[in-house]
Amino acid sequence: MSHKKRFLITAALPYTNGPVHIGHLAGVYIPADIYARYQKLKGHDAIYICGSDEHGVPITIRAKKEGKSPQEVVDKYHGLIKKSFEDFGIKFDNYSRTSLPLHHKTASDFFKKLYEKGEFIEKESEQLYDEQAKQFLADRFVKGTCPKCGYDEAYGDQCEKCGTSLSPTELINPISTLTGTKPVMKKTKHWYLPLDKHQEWLRKWILEDHKHDWKPNVLGQVKSWLDDGLRPRAVTRDLDWGVPVPVEGAEGKVLYVWFDAPIGYISSTKEWAEKTGKDWEPYWKNPDTKLIHFIGKDNIVFHTIIFPAMLKAHGDYILPDNVPANEFLNLEGDKISTSRNWAVWLHEYLEEFPGKQDVLRYVLTANAPETKDNDFTWKDFQARNNNELVGNLGNFVNRVVVLTNKYYDGKIPEPAELTEKDLKILEAVKAYPDRIGTLIEKFKFREALNEFMNLARMGNKYLADEEPWKKIKTDPNRVKSIMFVANQITTALAVLSEIFLPFTSEKLRKILRMRSPLKWDDIKNFDSYLLPPGHRIGKPELLFEKIDDEIIQKQKDKLLQTKRDNKSAEVAPAKEMISIDDFSKLDIRPATILEAEKIPKAKKLLKLTVDTGMDKRTVVAGIAEHYKPEDIVGKQVMMIINLKPVKLRGVLSEGMLLMTEDQMGKPVFLRPEKEVPNGKMTK
Ligand code: MF3
Ligand code: ZN
Repeated sequence: MSHKKRFLITAALPYTNGPVHIGHLAGVYIPADIYARYQKLKGHDAIYICGSDEHGVPITIRAKKEGKSPQEVVDKYHGLIKKSFEDFGIKFDNYSRTSLPLHHKTASDFFKKLYEKGEFIEKESEQLYDEQAKQFLADRFVKGTCPKCGYDEAYGDQCEKCGTSLSPTELINPISTLTGTKPVMKKTKHWYLPLDKHQEWLRKWILEDHKHDWKPNVLGQVKSWLDDGLRPRAVTRDLDWGVPVPVEGAEGKVLYVWFDAPIGYISSTKEWAEKTGKDWEPYWKNPDTKLIHFIGKDNIVFHTIIFPAMLKAHGDYILPDNVPANEFLNLEGDKISTSRNWAVWLHEYLEEFPGKQDVLRYVLTANAPETKDNDFTWKDFQARNNNELVGNLGNFVNRVVVLTNKYYDGKIPEPAELTEKDLKILEAVKAYPDRIGTLIEKFKFREALNEFMNLARMGNKYLADEEPWKKIKTDPNRVKSIMFVANQITTALAVLSEIFLPFTSEKLRKILRMRSPLKWDDIKNFDSYLLPPGHRIGKPELLFEKIDDEIIQKQKDKLLQTKRDNKSAEVAPAKEMISIDDFSKLDIRPATILEAEKIPKAKKLLKLTVDTGMDKRTVVAGIAEHYKPEDIVGKQVMMIINLKPVKLRGVLSEGMLLMTEDQMGKPVFLRPEKEVPNGKMTK
C-alpha cells in the first residue's frame, strides 16, 4: 500500500444538459463518494472535488431545442444536478462550475502557458462548414457514418456504437445536425496538441508502471489507443460558447470542451481553497498527493491520455495515481438514454421513495458495473431491500436495540463473563475495517459492501445461535454478555456504514446515542468495548422497511409507458411506390356513423352502422378501448367502401374507416374538414 496521505479525489464533471440518473450515481459519484468518505474516516487529508461541465456542443444544442440561451440551460441543470447530489449524500468538498470566471481564467492561463512553451501545433485546414447556419461543424454539430464500424449515426467527435473517437472530417456522408444540410469544406486555423510526441512516456507510465494497479478495462482501452498510434488533436473550436482562445488571431474560437473541462478539477480545487482558507497547490503539485479520477468508461481516453499529456506539457502538475473507470449500468435490459427518457432520474426517485436514498445507494453499489455492464431492475431493487437491508442489517440492529431496551431499560449491560466465543466475535469485528478497507483501496466496492453486510450477518448468526430471548429466563447472566457483545457489533456497524449508507449511519449513531465521533480505525483498535457498559442507548426505530409489490409494479408500469410512448413516436418506414392505377382502385368516400355498439366478449371492437350515401352498412372498428359508442355517433368520417367484407367476431365488416394515431397511441379519425354529402368524391 502507498504511504501517501493526501488525496485529491475527483468525479467526472457532469454535462449540464439534463438531470442526473442512476447510471451516473452507480458509475461515478457513489464509488468516488465511498472512497472519499473512507479516506476521511481513516483520518487522511482527502478532498472530493467536482462541478458542472457547462461548455460543449450538447449544451448549445439543448439550448436551441428549449429556445433558451446556453447560460439559462446550464443555470437550470447546474441547480438541479447539485441538489440531486446533495440529496443523495454525495458529499463533495466543492461543487463548482466551468462557466465561472475563476475557471475561465484558470483554463485560459493553462492554454497560454502551453502556447508559450511551444507545446501546440498551429495548423490551417479544411473543416466542415454549414453554409446555411454560417457555422463550422464541430463535434455533435455533425453526424455521419463511422469509418470504423459503419454505424450511420456517428457524431463528429465520437461513434457511440464502437466508441471510436473521431474528427468531423473522418465521417462518411456528413450531415449538419443544425440544418440537415450537407456541409462544404472551408479553411480555418486551430491549435493541436501533438499527442504523438507524448506516446512514448504515456506507454511506459501506464502500461508498465501502472500495469498492476489500474483496472483491466482501463488498461485495455489505453493499449488499443497506443497501439493505434496517437495523432495531434485539435484543442480549439470555431464556436461561440466556451472559454475564448486567449491568443491573437483566435477571434471567434473557444477551447475544446475536453480541454477546459478537466482543468475544471483544478479550478474547483482553487475555489474550495478560497472558501476554506486552505492552499490548493499541494493537492495538484506535491508528488505526495494521490490524484484519483473516478469516471465512466466513455471518459477513459480523456483522463488517461489527453489530460495527462496536458498536465505533463504544462510541467507544474502531478499525474493521476489511478483512473478507476466503471462500465455502464443498463435499466431493465436497455441502455439508459436521456433522449428516450429511459432512466430512473434521481429527483423523480426521491419523490417516489422519500427518505430512501440509502436503499438506492445500496442497490447501486451492490450491483455496480465495476468490471462489466450491469443491469438495474426494479425486481432486484425490491429483493435487495427486503432481503438484505430489511432482512439482514435492519433486522439485526432492531433486535439488539429492542432487547437492550426490554431487558435493561436501554442500558448496555456489564458482561458477566465473556466466553471464548464472545472474544472471538469481538476479535472478528476488529478485522472488518481492514478487510473492507483493502477492497476499497482496490476500488472493489461491491465486495467491500458485501463484507460490510457480512458483519451484520455475523451478528444475526450470533443472536440466532445464542438465543438471548430464551436464555433470559434460564441464564440471565449469560444474556448480559450476549447483549454487550451484540451492542459492540451494532456500534461497529454504525461507524462502518457511514461510507456506504450515510443516512443510515447517522440514524444509527442517533439510536445508539453515540457522542464520541468514532473513526474507522477505532473499530480495529478498541480494547474491551466501543460503547461502554452503562451507556444508555435510545429507543428502537426501524432503519429500513419492506417495499411492496404494488410500489414496484408502479415503477415498472412507468417504464412500460415510456416504452409505449417511444414506440408511438416511431414512424414506420415508407411503403413501396404504387401507380396511379393502384390508387384509383380504392373507393374512398365520406360516411356518417349512425349507430355504435360494443361487441360482446371483444374488448377492442365496436360495431358501427354507417351511412355511405348509397346504403347503410356495418363496419367493425378496433377502437373500443379508446371510444365509447356515444362519443362517435353522428361523426362524419372517411371510409374505404370497396374492401372485400370480412367477418370479425361473427360480425360482417363491410368497409374500413381511415384513421391515424396520436402520440399516446389513441386512434384518431380522418374526417372531411367540413360536413359534406355522404358518398361524394371528386373525380
Ligand atoms: N462532461 C463529461 C461527461 O459527462 C465529463 C467531463 S470530465 C472532465 O462525459 F474531466 F472533463 F471534467
Ligand atoms: Zn463506429
